[in-house]
Amino acid sequence: MKNLKNSFKKSPKYSIKWSNYFEIYENLFKRFVNKKITLVEIGVGDGGSLFMWRKYFGKKVKIIGIELNPEAKKLEKNGFKIFIGDQSNPDFWKRFYKKVGKIDILIDDGGHTNLQQVTTLMESIKHINYEGMIVVEDTHTSFMREKGFKNPSRYSFINFSKSLVEILHRKNPMIKKEINYFSQIINSVEYYDSVTVINIGKKRLTKSKHLENNKKLRVYFDDFRFKNENNMKNSTKENFFSNLIKRNVSKRSYLYRIYENWIIKKYLKILKK
Ligand SMILES: C[S@@+](CC[C@H](N)C(=O)[O-])C[C@H]1O[C@@H](n2cnc3c(N)ncnc32)[C@H](O)[C@@H]1O
Repeated sequence: MKNLKNSFKKSPKYSIKWSNYFEIYENLFKRFVNKKITLVEIGVGDGGSLFMWRKYFGKKVKIIGIELNPEAKKLEKNGFKIFIGDQSNPDFWKRFYKKVGKIDILIDDGGHTNLQQVTTLMESIKHINYEGMIVVEDTHTSFMREKGFKNPSRYSFINFSKSLVEILHRKNPMIKKEINYFSQIINSVEYYDSVTVINIGKKRLTKSKHLENNKKLRVYFDDFRFKNENNMKNSTKENFFSNLIKRNVSKRSYLYRIYENWIIKKYLKILKK
């Protein structure tokens, strides 16, 4: 089993990664080890992470670095392909993918601003192979006011990524919004401390189907939530709204909505303390 942290430590050049990334990456990347894939990393720095990826993925991997600093071009003598350019420039990306074609893994460790992360995602997503992924590093910047990040903001990367979550849910027929191109290619979005992963599906994804097995065996399967007052015994008795709920208030009613919002606000307060 290959160990990414070892590859990091043994890299012949300087590199910086947060300590929690290694376990996340091993879980995400193990299926690609020794496979013929193309990996692109934005943000080359001294090149240490490029050596780390090569040691971890093996000889078949094609590694491309993208960097603003023209000095990085020197790493081409070590067998990496380096593109000098700005990740927040959509024209750069158009030229890049025209030259490189489709890729499997994109790791964004560039400048980490909202503009850079969102532009990179949107200009790259259609160029990722099926079962590939986009990994956005240092997404804690979505919550940082310091160092010029000016977040949290409505336009932070993490807020943007919530729209991907909405769009992938459109595959469920209960959602009346039409599926679009992004619903068809995004299989999942994973969130970790400071890392967001956008996983591309195995194939073009379609609306999901509602399946039932053994219909004749359906005997007492019923929505029991509001059938019996006793089910609600453990909820906050003293609360006026919860008493209403106990009396079978329909989930469509205004009162149910007020109660629901009240409880959720309470839990949000606990969660965000
Ligand atoms: C955190 S360092 C990368 C470190 C490297 N990946 C590693 O793990 O050692 C970030 C790099 O992104 C580069 N960078 C910053 N803004 C960029 C942009 N808009 N486009 C491309 N590269 C950028 C910086 O020059 C810097 O070298």
